[in-house]
Amino acid sequence: MIEVNCSPDIDLERTKGIMTEIAHDTMGGWLWLPRKYDMGELVRLKEAAKKIQAESEYLVCIGIGGSYLGHRAIIEALRPKSETKIIYAGNSLSRRELERALEKVGDHDFSVNVISKSGTTLEPALAFREFKAKLIEKYGEEEARSRIYATTDAKKGALHDEAVASGYTRFVVPDNIGGRYSVLTAVGMLPMAVAGVDIDKLLEGAAEAVEEEVGSAVKYAWMRYEIGQKGYDTEVFASFEPATMYFNEWLKQLFGESEGKNGQGIFPASVIYSTDLHSLGQFMQDGRRNLFETIIDYPTDETNAKVVQAVRIAHTDGGIPVLDIKPESYDEKGFGALIYFFELACAISAKLFGVNPFDQPGVEAYKEELKKLI
Ligand code: PA5
Repeated sequence: MIEVNCSPDIDLERTKGIMTEIAHDTMGGWLWLPRKYDMGELVRLKEAAKKIQAESEYLVCIGIGGSYLGHRAIIEALRPKSETKIIYAGNSLSRRELERALEKVGDHDFSVNVISKSGTTLEPALAFREFKAKLIEKYGEEEARSRIYATTDAKKGALHDEAVASGYTRFVVPDNIGGRYSVLTAVGMLPMAVAGVDIDKLLEGAAEAVEEEVGSAVKYAWMRYEIGQKGYDTEVFASFEPATMYFNEWLKQLFGESEGKNGQGIFPASVIYSTDLHSLGQFMQDGRRNLFETIIDYPTDETNAKVVQAVRIAHTDGGIPVLDIKPESYDEKGFGALIYFFELACAISAKLFGVNPFDQPGVEAYKEELKKLI
C-alpha cells in the first residue's frame, strides 16, 4: 500500500460524485484498464517485443508527451536488462537532437516504434520520416516495413492510414484513454517489454492499486486541493533517486495538462535531491512561500533516508507544507501501483478544481499554430 501522510477534510458525497463522473467519462478507460486488460493484446505485444529483441540492437521510440514520458519514466527508473537499447526521438523539433539519435543508431540493427494517438503530431512525424528513410536505405522497402511498429488510433489519422497501407505491425491507443493516461496501454507496454521491464508485474501492481489505492489517492487529491485553496500555487515533486527524474517529468505532464485550464490548477515542478539542494535548496528553504512540496519517498539506502528526514524537518520549519508519499517498493509492482495512484489522484484533483482532467485545449492550440507556420 502507498502511504500518504496527511489528513485533509474530505467531502465524501462530493468524492462519490466525482468518482461516478470519472467512471462514466468517455475518456475514463484507464480507470479499469489494469483489471480488464486485453490479454490477447498483451500476448501480441510480448511477441512483437521478442521479435524486436531478436533482430535489433536499438529500438527507436518516436513520440512526444503522453506518447513517450510514461514508458521512459519506468525504463529509466528500473534500468532493466535487455540486449536491445531504447533510443528516444521525435520529442522535440531540434535538428541537433535528431542528428544525434540518427548517429547513435549508426550502422547498428534497429527497429522503430512510432507512437502517436492522433497520428498527426509534427515532432514524431518529422523524426519518423528520417528514421523510415534510414530503415529503407539499410534494409530495403520490404524489410523496413517489417521493422516498423505503429501505435496509434484504431481507425483514423495519417499514421493509421500509412500503417494500414504499408502493413506495419499495429497497436492501438484506445479511444477512451488519452495520452498522459496511456502508459499501461501499448503506448508504454511495447517499449517497456523490449527494454526488459517485467510488464506482467507492472500490470499486477496497477491492478492491485485499483482496489487498494482509492483511499490514498482521494486523500492526496483533497490535501493538494486544500493547500491550493490557501494560496499555494506550485507543487514541487521531490525525489531522492536520480533515476526517477523522468517519473517526475511524467507527473508534471499528468498534472499540468490535466489541471491547468480555465485559470485553475497548481503548477507542477520537480527536484531531485540531494543534487538540487545545492541549487534550488536555498529557494525551497527561504524563498517566496507560494509552494508546497510532495516528497516521493522511495525505499532507499540509509544515508539517503537521512537526507529525506533532514529535508522534511528543515522545509517544514521553513514554512513549506510538506506531503509524503511512500511507495511500497522500488520495482515493477511498486511503479505499477504508483502510476495508477497518481492517475486517479490527478483526475480527482482536477475535478475538485472544476476542470476537465482529460482534455488539453492548450496543447491543441499550440499544435494548430505550429501547423500554420510550418
Ligand atoms: O497527453 C496528451 O494528450 C498529449 O501530451 C499527447 O500525448 C501529445 O501531445 C502527443 O500527441 P499524439 O500522441 O497524438 O502524437
